[in-house]
Amino acid sequence: MTIIRTIRFKFAAVILLLLAAMTLSFSVLTLKTVEGQIVSDVISRAQAISESAAASAAYSMLSDDMLGMDSVVSRVKASHLDVDFVAIADNSMKALAHSNISLLGKTVNVAPGKLLEMDRYGCVTRGGSGGVEVVTPVSFLKKRLGYVVLGMNRSLLSDARRSAQKSVIRGLVVAFVMGVAGVLVLSASITKPIEELSSGVEELKKGRKKPLKVYSKDELGRLTENFNGMSALIVEQKDQLAKYAGELEEAYISTLKVLAAAIDARDPYTLGHSARVAQFSVKMGEAMGLSKKELEDLEVACLFHDVGKIKTPDHVLLKPGKLEADEFREMARHTEDGMNIISKAPSLAKYIPAVRHHHEWYNGKGYPDGLAGDEIPLHASIISIADSFDAMTSNRPYRKSRSEAEALKEILRCSGTQFNPRLVEVFAGAFKNEHEGFMLSDLI
Ligand SMILES: [Fe+2]
Repeated sequence: MTIIRTIRFKFAAVILLLLAAMTLSFSVLTLKTVEGQIVSDVISRAQAISESAAASAAYSMLSDDMLGMDSVVSRVKASHLDVDFVAIADNSMKALAHSNISLLGKTVNVAPGKLLEMDRYGCVTRGGSGGVEVVTPVSFLKKRLGYVVLGMNRSLLSDARRSAQKSVIRGLVVAFVMGVAGVLVLSASITKPIEELSSGVEELKKGRKKPLKVYSKDELGRLTENFNGMSALIVEQKDQLAKYAGELEEAYISTLKVLAAAIDARDPYTLGHSARVAQFSVKMGEAMGLSKKELEDLEVACLFHDVGKIKTPDHVLLKPGKLEADEFREMARHTEDGMNIISKAPSLAKYIPAVRHHHEWYNGKGYPDGLAGDEIPLHASIISIADSFDAMTSNRPYRKSRSEAEALKEILRCSGTQFNPRLVEVFAGAFKNEHEGFMLSDLI
């Protein structure tokens, strides 16, 4: 999810930055163009008014008609609100008529500024900080009579500029908001399938198949369709593999059960020993409240617990009398041999602790590792009691079997030394349940 957020964030950030840069550049260019157009319009208007005034003033200047010149000035000023001032000057720029009467007779100073344009009539236009001023020569039959100087009020220009700026900014905001909305929709439409793919991969990791919704017919849509096909195949193959693995494990367990039964059968006195140990152990496990899965594992571990005896020589395994020390060592090796046989199948690794440690003693004096107390795996401790109980209640060539009550008495006696006292209690309780009316006090 974090990755999707990052992709969405990066995608949106890049697009928004580009959008902002483009909108800003576009706005600046538009403003410059609009402003240029406004200035151009104002200059054209100033030139037209000035040229018209120059044409009207020529006759008055020829006849030194001061009244006529005043009339031209007054008419121009009254007719055009954006004309700041207008003056008619002689060739030395002395004002013969002026919209500002106080400047009559004085030199008309053209404000310094940038030369904007010079038209075909020799009209000079200057754009100073105060606005646009136009100087138009007044001629008659190619003779220069003087000039008309006209100043355009800049306020109209500023108003037009402000109005243009407002429009551009409004357009910019609308374009930006629409752009942001578009980016969000686009980013969601791109990241949504990726998000789906990501959750599909998560589900696949957990071994579940989740068909993804195909949002489009483009590359992402095709990717999603391919993913659906691939995940269906993977889950199907995984299920198939799990089935094969289960069958293989079952087959191996069956083989080992046959092997364990064959080992039991080598010695007529221990025939069915493993199956009986499993029966006692499962009863104890049930009394302890173990789960169904644990009980199944315990049962299989019991069937395997002496599988290592396949390597024990007959003269040791079938010896009718008590074992000598070296013979006992040989017999004791069946725990490690059993572990080695089981470890050939990785799926049977869970049975190794029970097989290796079922001859450990609670006081640490057992074999092969001398584990003590709770160091001994639970299944091994259970098997230890069930194994001893069955051995004591079975006939041996060198001794007769003990009664179940005698065997239980022996197990109670070895509680805390050979056997885990807590499990001995469980065993005694299970025994009591099996033998109605049996009292532990009967053993004393
Ligand atoms: Fe054993």
